[in-house]
Amino acid sequence: MRAATIQNGEIAVAEQADPTPGPGEVLVRVRAAGLNGADLLQVKGHYPAPPGHPQDIPGLEFAGEVVARGPAAGRFAEGARVTGITGGGGQAELLKVHERQITPVPHGLDWAQAGGFSEVFTTAHDAIVTQAGLRPGERLLVHGAAGGVGTAAVQLGHALGAHVTASVRNGALHERVATLGADEVVEPALLADPEREVDPFDVILELVGAPNLDTNLRRVAVGGRIVVIGVGAGVKGELNLMRLMSARARIMGSTLRARPLEEKAIAARHVEREVLPLVERGAITVPVAATFGLDDAAAAYARFAEGGKLGKIVLTMD
Ligand SMILES: NC(=O)c1ccc[n+]([C@@H]2O[C@H](COP(=O)([O-])OP(=O)(O)OC[C@H]3O[C@@H](n4cnc5c(N)ncnc54)[C@H](OP(=O)(O)O)[C@@H]3O)[C@@H](O)[C@H]2O)c1
Repeated sequence: MRAATIQNGEIAVAEQADPTPGPGEVLVRVRAAGLNGADLLQVKGHYPAPPGHPQDIPGLEFAGEVVARGPAAGRFAEGARVTGITGGGGQAELLKVHERQITPVPHGLDWAQAGGFSEVFTTAHDAIVTQAGLRPGERLLVHGAAGGVGTAAVQLGHALGAHVTASVRNGALHERVATLGADEVVEPALLADPEREVDPFDVILELVGAPNLDTNLRRVAVGGRIVVIGVGAGVKGELNLMRLMSARARIMGSTLRARPLEEKAIAARHVEREVLPLVERGAITVPVAATFGLDDAAAAYARFAEGGKLGKIVLTMD
């Protein structure tokens, strides 16, 4: 098979051995696979894949058809259209993945959208619903809201009946983020300005990192929850414990890629039950900023790194 392959700190396309599905696994002919920040880090050697996944083929989310089943794999028939998460190896023509980590492709998504769906929607749902317990009527703040996880969280928050504030530094994208369901889209500087009055937030999804720590502690509501999912802009900051204590707030953090199969399977079941129906009735979509063929994988990585996009960059395998 052909696969996006890490060679000397760069992404190239190379021949790789076809994977063979083991017990409980299926072999997927991949049609599309989204790019994520973790892939860029992995290419540069800063974020090795978890054990059991190829070290030189990135790709955490994919969509395609089941073409073979390993022993005891019974959830999906051959030919089933599936999307899912994996610890790596998704950006290839073939992928072996445990059947509990995948879901059907919901009606309403084309292959590119389905390929860019699972990692970001699983991450967003797990963060704001499973971990932070977002409730209808609560106020949700999403930092970095124009990216893959951010556009997922804005739509989920809106669909779940929360009031959604999106923080987006690129003014050119404000209107498009609003159309995804944000009640307001603001510049990060507005929230950081202590003179500006802003109603406090029950849940804050942090996708940018440490520079927002102080803002988040100023803006969190009593009983609020801050979930740290992305730290691209910095990992260290000063924590005002008095503010945390006064707000009786909680700060939590999480990663998806390194979780064991059992936890990924639970997250996938939550997506299956709570997110797929929203896609199928048109309440949620996957904004795809650009698609690139596998041969243009290097260009896709360059486009992702450039930023300034709404939603996903996706590799297509046809
Ligand atoms: N913990 C996990 O399990 C998990 C899972 C998935 C993703 N992540 C992480 O979560 C983060 C978001 O993922 P993603 O897929 O949504 O990435 P993405 O598509 O690249 O989106 C990131 C967004 O954040 C904005 N941003 C970046 N730096 C900023 C800064 N200094 N100030 C304001 N805005 C800034 C970007 O704006 P521009 O376009 O203007 O640059 C972009 O809109 C990444 O760090 C990713 O690695 C973590």
